[in-house]
Amino acid sequence: MTQRIRHFIKDTDLSPAEQAEVLDLAAELKRDRSSTTPLARGASRETVAVLFDKTSTRTRFSFASGIADLGGSALVVDPGSSQMGHKESIEDTTRVLERMVAAIVWRTFAHEGLERMAAISHVPVVNALCDDYHPCQLLADLLTIRERFGSTQGRVLAYLGDGANNMSNSYLLAGATAGMHVRIAAPEGAWPDAGVVEEAAAVAAATGGSVLVTADPREAASGADVVVTDTWVSMGQEDEAAERKARFADYRVTDELMGLAGEDAVFLHCLPAYRGLEVDASVIDGPRSLVWDEAENRLHAQKAVLVWLLRQGRPALAEREE
Ligand code: CP
Ligand code: NVA
Repeated sequence: MTQRIRHFIKDTDLSPAEQAEVLDLAAELKRDRSSTTPLARGASRETVAVLFDKTSTRTRFSFASGIADLGGSALVVDPGSSQMGHKESIEDTTRVLERMVAAIVWRTFAHEGLERMAAISHVPVVNALCDDYHPCQLLADLLTIRERFGSTQGRVLAYLGDGANNMSNSYLLAGATAGMHVRIAAPEGAWPDAGVVEEAAAVAAATGGSVLVTADPREAASGADVVVTDTWVSMGQEDEAAERKARFADYRVTDELMGLAGEDAVFLHCLPAYRGLEVDASVIDGPRSLVWDEAENRLHAQKAVLVWLLRQGRPALAEREE
């Protein structure tokens, strides 16, 4: 029987126990970057395809560097430089790539594209950000929270700003998986999709976490352990920039807002950050900010998820079902 290939295209693709395993592995890999080299094959290196339909700095460098640490070689493909998306279907691209690479990492627009790829791929597919989720970023954030607080369980995370974007969805789903109390503060009309909130609430009910959506940034920040935000203008929304900057202005993370959070509260941001818009420079460049550790943790967390996925099984070409 053909093995079921595991993918990581949405935060809840990892159960709470699996997410904890990946985070443990990330901490191990952070202590010793070259402790495992599953992509080394004798004198040669296996390739991982790292595909971008949107721009990137952190994701691009962390995957390229991490794949090298694992003994492999990253082939990073930028928008417009392949047939994918305009000359060839996702399915045909997948059928070709899976015969040549150990895994496919893809940053794209619609989540549906990743679902189509994962539905037929015989190698793991990893979501490097789409319009709906950014699950790799969340592993890095959870690792950073663990490092500071020892555990994510029961910690309160307040996300302020655009509640309807990929980061908000991923905080809800991955935070609930990690047993956190996730609070989203956003203006009405920019709240997360009800389906995502329900899904996160169901996960939280099993892990001891909880979910709250509010229009009040002060309510969300009060007593929080972790305050986070993201750009108000995600990739693909550039035409709405002016309207968005006005709409989210009351949700900027300021020193005053951080003052409402817990005494030991920390600030996170996936970056790139826009100082003076979603966060004041005094916060992101201040003593409570862990954003540079968070960025570094992309490397360790993504290596861990790749290693974990590859350990779940790698059928030889001959064993693959049509
Ligand atoms: N946080 C993040 O994904 O950064 P990049 O867009 O630079 O990859
Ligand atoms: N919400 C942002 C995240 C960037 C890492 C975007 O999608 O552009």
